[in-house]
Amino acid sequence: MGDSSIWIEKFRPKSFKEVIGQDNIVNRIKAFVEQKNLPHLLFSGPAGVGKTSLILTAARELYGDSWRNNIMETNASDSRGIDTVRKEVKDFARTRAIGDVPFKICILDEADALTREAQQALRRTMEQYSSICRFCLITNWSSKIIDPIQSRCTIFRFKPLDKESVNQIVDNIVKEEKLKLDDKTREALFYVSNGDVRRLENVMQSCSTLSKNINEELVYEIVSSAKPKEIKEVLDLAVNGNFVSAKEKLLDVMLKHGLSGLDIIKQIQGEIWGLELEDERKIELVDKCGEVEFRMIEGSDEFVQLESLIANFMKK
Ligand SMILES: Nc1ncnc2c1ncn2[C@@H]1O[C@H](COP(=O)(O)OP(=O)(O)OP(=O)(O)O)[C@@H](O)[C@H]1O
Ligand SMILES: [Mg+2]
Repeated sequence: MGDSSIWIEKFRPKSFKEVIGQDNIVNRIKAFVEQKNLPHLLFSGPAGVGKTSLILTAARELYGDSWRNNIMETNASDSRGIDTVRKEVKDFARTRAIGDVPFKICILDEADALTREAQQALRRTMEQYSSICRFCLITNWSSKIIDPIQSRCTIFRFKPLDKESVNQIVDNIVKEEKLKLDDKTREALFYVSNGDVRRLENVMQSCSTLSKNINEELVYEIVSSAKPKEIKEVLDLAVNGNFVSAKEKLLDVMLKHGLSGLDIIKQIQGEIWGLELEDERKIELVDKCGEVEFRMIEGSDEFVQLESLIANFMKK
C-alpha cells in the first residue's frame, strides 16, 4: 500500500483476532457467526474502540467475498429521516442474501440520533423483516435507545482500550511502518488517545509524517496537549500555597501548547486523583472543575475562572 493511505483504514481489523482488547465481545460474536445465526445487535460505547470494525469483520466471516453485497450501512444521523431509512431497508431486505446465510445485515450507525418516533417506526421495521434482515444498531449512548428496541437486541458494551491493548496496537504499527519509539512515548500515546484507537492511529500517522523517530515531545505537540507532568507541576505549586508561581506556570503551559481554558480544564481534572490530598478534597476539586468548565462554556472569562480554580487548590 502506498504512503498516501490513511492508517485508520489501513489498520482496520479484517479478522476477529485483529480486533484487540474486546475479547469477551469478540468471542460472543464469533460464536454467533459460527452458528451462522445472529440476533439483532446493539453496540454501544465510546468512539474508536472497534464497534464498526467488529460488525464489518463479522460480515466478512459470514459471507466471505460477497460480504459487501449482503450488508447495508446507513447513518441514522443524516437528515433524510426515518422514512428514507425504512424504504432503503425495505429495498435492501427484499432480495435474498447471497450464499448460504438466510439473512442480510443492516448496520444503523449513530442510532441515538433517531427521535423516539423514528425509533418506534424502526421497531416495526425490525419486526417485519427480522427473518431476512438482522439489524446492528451502533450508538455512543445506549440510554438513548428506547426500551422496546433494546429488548429486541443483544446488547454489547464496548470499553475504551486498556494500556496493554493500546500497546499491542502501537507495537504492530511500529513494526509495519518501521517507526522508532521508547516507553515514555508509549505512555504519551496512551495518555493522549485515552483508549480511542482512531485517535491513537491518527496521532501516530501525523507524527510519522514528521519523523520515523517518534518521541514524547512530538506526540504532545501534535495533539497540542500539555504533558501530564506539566499540569501536575502547576497543581503541586498551588497545593503548596505558591499561587503566583502556579498561575505563571499555568499561563506558560497554555501559551506553549496553544491551549484554551477548556482544553486545560479537562487535563487538570484528570490530574487531581494523582495529587497528595485527602479523597474528600479531591472530590471537591473535581466538582469545582465541573463548575468552572460550565462557566467557561457559558462564556465567562477563562483566565478569571482558571485563577479561581487554582485558588481552590490552595484551601486547606
Ligand atoms: N479494538 C480495536 N482493535 C484494533 N483496531 C481498532 C480497534 N478499535 C478501533 N480500531 C482502529 O480504529 C479505527 C476506527 O475504529 P471503528 O471504526 O471500529 O470505531 P468505532 O467504535 O466504530 O467508533 P465510532 O463510534 O467513532 O464510529 C479502525 O479502523 C481501526 O484501525
Ligand atoms: Mg463506527
